[in-house]
Amino acid sequence: MYNITLIPGDGIGPEVSEATKCVINATGLDVNWETVNAGKKIFEDTGVLVPDKVFKSIEKNKIVLKGPITTPIGSGFSSINVMLRKKYDLYSNVRPVKSLPGIDSHFKEIDLVIFRENTEGLYAGVERELPDGSFEAIKRITRKASIRIAKSAFEYAKKNNKKKVTVVHKANIIKLTDGFFLNCVREVSKDYPDIELQEVIIDNMCMQLVMNPNQFEVIVTMNLYGDLLSDLCAGLVGGLGLVPGANMGKDISIFEAVHGSAPDIAGKNLANPIALILSSAMMLNHIGETNKAEIIVKAVMKTIFEDRVLTQDLGGKATTTEITEAIIKNII
Ligand code: NAI
Ligand code: MG
Repeated sequence: MYNITLIPGDGIGPEVSEATKCVINATGLDVNWETVNAGKKIFEDTGVLVPDKVFKSIEKNKIVLKGPITTPIGSGFSSINVMLRKKYDLYSNVRPVKSLPGIDSHFKEIDLVIFRENTEGLYAGVERELPDGSFEAIKRITRKASIRIAKSAFEYAKKNNKKKVTVVHKANIIKLTDGFFLNCVREVSKDYPDIELQEVIIDNMCMQLVMNPNQFEVIVTMNLYGDLLSDLCAGLVGGLGLVPGANMGKDISIFEAVHGSAPDIAGKNLANPIALILSSAMMLNHIGETNKAEIIVKAVMKTIFEDRVLTQDLGGKATTTEITEAIIKNII
């Protein structure tokens, strides 16, 4: 039996995590779901953002499936996601972006993976007010974090027979921090002589991705650029409802979709659960349940491609419940 921590989160989080839990249970995998919540809703209910039992559960089970958490804009509490990634040193944010047959999108056969440094850089949100009333954000880039994310990307490329890793930066302008990150990636690439290192500046990368995304296989980049490119890439394959992700550390991993809490559709049974369901397949692969992971991915594909059961974001009419039921029916 597996003990897995489930954090439903805010907005559409409870809907998509319930769907995902049902899909995993339908595979027959014996899971003891330990459900604990953190975020905006629990804060409004209890005055605590992350109750102690959340930390205890994560530290005990080490495997977490997590829905999105709402973070207030411009003021209010700082990101729980950033806090968890830093606290548990979940240094590698892995986001596979893949075209799914049967999804109506501009490009076909996209198959790339983003490796986003997940613990530092501008996205860490280290900011301060200066005496003159201005503000600054600190972009800290360390050798340790840069080397290990580069290694994650190259190791993945090697294992999966990928020919090229693309490092994305702005080292022409931001010379010290981005320049240092770039040099760390170059250094790691020397240990992988069979894999090409392609260096692309972030603005050009945005254009390349929307013109010809099929040229990319593995992308490695800093925290904020990785965040931005993730949503861009999701848009290339049919939207945020489809793209899964994993926050990987040395011994703790949190699996979550790329998307946020989608307040515009929350509570309406409209959310596409596929992104979190595919994140759960990544989780099953991680714990060695590769057969079950494959069964889930195949069930999702059949639901989309053969049954044509699609949620609104994919141009269909199915509700969260209907697409979940269709996926469960395809689990054999
Ligand atoms: P979002 O990803 O929540 O939504 C962007 C757009 O995509 C919306 O139109 C939404 O309806 C749509 N969308 C997202 N996921 C969908 C799904 N599964 N099915 C169908 N449509 C979907 O991004 P937004 O609006 O910028 O952020 C909302 C909140 O989520 C913010 O508070 C933000 O901080 C938080 N957030 C949390 C994340 C996390 O916990 N990992 C990640 C990203 C954002
Ligand atoms: Mg994001």
